[in-house]
Amino acid sequence: GKVGVLYGGRSAEREVSLMSGQGVLAALQSKGVDAHGFDPALRGIAELAAEKFDRVFIALHGRYGEDGTLQGVLEQLGIPYTGSGVMASAIGMDKVMTKRIWLSHGLPTPRFLVLDAKEATPEELRKVPDELGLPLMLKAPHEGSTIGISKVVGYSDMQPGFALCAKYDEAVLAEEFISGRELTVPVLGTGRGARALPIVEIVAPQGNYDYEHKYFSDDTQYLCPAPLDDALTKRIQSLAVRAFNALGSSGWARVDFMLRAADNEPFLLEINTSPGMTGHSLVPMAARAAGMSYEDLCVEILRSADM
Ligand code: DAL
Ligand code: MG
Repeated sequence: GKVGVLYGGRSAEREVSLMSGQGVLAALQSKGVDAHGFDPALRGIAELAAEKFDRVFIALHGRYGEDGTLQGVLEQLGIPYTGSGVMASAIGMDKVMTKRIWLSHGLPTPRFLVLDAKEATPEELRKVPDELGLPLMLKAPHEGSTIGISKVVGYSDMQPGFALCAKYDEAVLAEEFISGRELTVPVLGTGRGARALPIVEIVAPQGNYDYEHKYFSDDTQYLCPAPLDDALTKRIQSLAVRAFNALGSSGWARVDFMLRAADNEPFLLEINTSPGMTGHSLVPMAARAAGMSYEDLCVEILRSADM
């Protein structure tokens, strides 16, 4: 049948999604799938309905694509789609809600506080480092690709970090900084069938794996499979699957971790229910390490639309 590859969209990650979607579209076409690109930012819901897609591959990132709103539209239109449903997408797009669910499942995630981006008083700001220690991270809860994220090293970084978050979000997630190694684990499948791919370790210059390093620079090193002993590898992969299932995610996702240097304890940072599929992206890298080509990966993800 006719497959729509949805990409672009209206979020801050539009540019990333265009790269993901072009990759996915070409890969599916090379496998003989009757795939067509569709950018919801250029064409509306009526046009989406008129296309009469039999299935869609969601290669949108961020708001209006990864956050459950589009999933709801597709449910209404009766069009099967890849990846998580409405609820898991909505929760996964919200770093605070995600952490709350994980905590309720006894899964490890850094300590945190939630503040109002615009209304927090200087007093409240000053209390954050007292509670979480320094350095700490400030994050816009509903963004991706490191957008709206800053590291607070001293008290004077709090106000600019809040101002940055306020550009994107109503709330600010202040999170304990876990010093250690940055890891990410793709998960494919659903429920009992969910399985982790090899772990990717990200070694960014000065630990600075930001938007530029994610998509444009070549000086970040990736180690896949991450050099960890078997027991720790299994433990982290199993945590990734539990984190995925705790949210009720389906099809595919990528779970990001910090591995604390002091004691090798893993901490869950966030889940990406529509992760990047660009040439620089980590799900394709892990799939390759598992012997799966980019094209086969796209076909497997597409199959999740039928389940
Ligand atoms: N939010 C980006 C696309 C990712 O997680 O890969
Ligand atoms: Mg993310």
